[in-house]
Amino acid sequence: MLAENGGTQAAKARGPVFVILLGPPGCGKGTQARELSKAVGLAHISTGDILRRAAKENSELGRMIQSKMTAGELVPDSLVCQSVVSRTSQPDCERGAILDGFPRTLEQAIFLCPMLPLRRTIVLNLQIDRTVLMQRILGRRTCPTCGEIYNIHFRPPRMTGFCDRDSVPLERRTDDNEVTVQQRLVEYENQIQPLADFFKDMKIRQDISADVEPAVLTAKLRELVEIVIGKSDREDNR
Ligand code: AP5
Repeated sequence: MLAENGGTQAAKARGPVFVILLGPPGCGKGTQARELSKAVGLAHISTGDILRRAAKENSELGRMIQSKMTAGELVPDSLVCQSVVSRTSQPDCERGAILDGFPRTLEQAIFLCPMLPLRRTIVLNLQIDRTVLMQRILGRRTCPTCGEIYNIHFRPPRMTGFCDRDSVPLERRTDDNEVTVQQRLVEYENQIQPLADFFKDMKIRQDISADVEPAVLTAKLRELVEIVIGKSDREDNR
């Protein structure tokens, strides 16, 4: 749960931990956030998933979100920030959360940071050679029921086209086409440097190579997050 004005006593007592996943489209943020969430028991908040749900609504707002996402452009900061604050007030965020795809602009980071317990926040900056991203994204398939993320090249389901868990047909995201992905990469490159510098200045950023097997990356990220969780528990026991 995000604390107002730097942190309430109650939030401190609970010791929420926040993990921010930074990285270009297709680097593995969603895959890692899902695994980490199971491993360390923090809620997974994906702004992409929140916006995809909102885009399905038959309203002016839903249509605006859909058109931005289809074009590979960012959705307005105010809308995304509001969605994240509302999501973090849900009970599963009491111990903290993994933020997947947020913040994504300097403005979003400036909005978020006063509400974070900084000593219990870590920014995991996933780094990867841009040449592999297109193949990863174009090969992605997702289960519409459980959200499991597959890849036809790197992580195929047992039965082609169907989720291992739910047996429902897998889907391809509408923004996973070459033209939109190029634009998503442009948006990322436009935003990442000031954002990465901001977190570096705050001394909470860790750079990690994402060009490794998913399980190897999960183990590395888990180790880093558990250090922060341990710090948080020690602070609570003082
Ligand atoms: P969002 O849904 O957040 O998309 P993204 O950032 O472009 O990232 P992706 O979901 O494409 O990739 P990922 O890094 O999660 O990779 P994944 O794990 O799936 O955002 C979509 C849109 O929403 C934006 O364009 C924007 O319009 C809007 N939006 C969202 N947040 C916003 C914000 N804060 N502000 C404004 N607008 C916002 O992996 C990709 C594939 O690779 C999968 O098939 C996976 O199986 C495979 N894979 C993963 N890891 C590995 C590995 N280690 N080795 C081999 N394959 C791997």
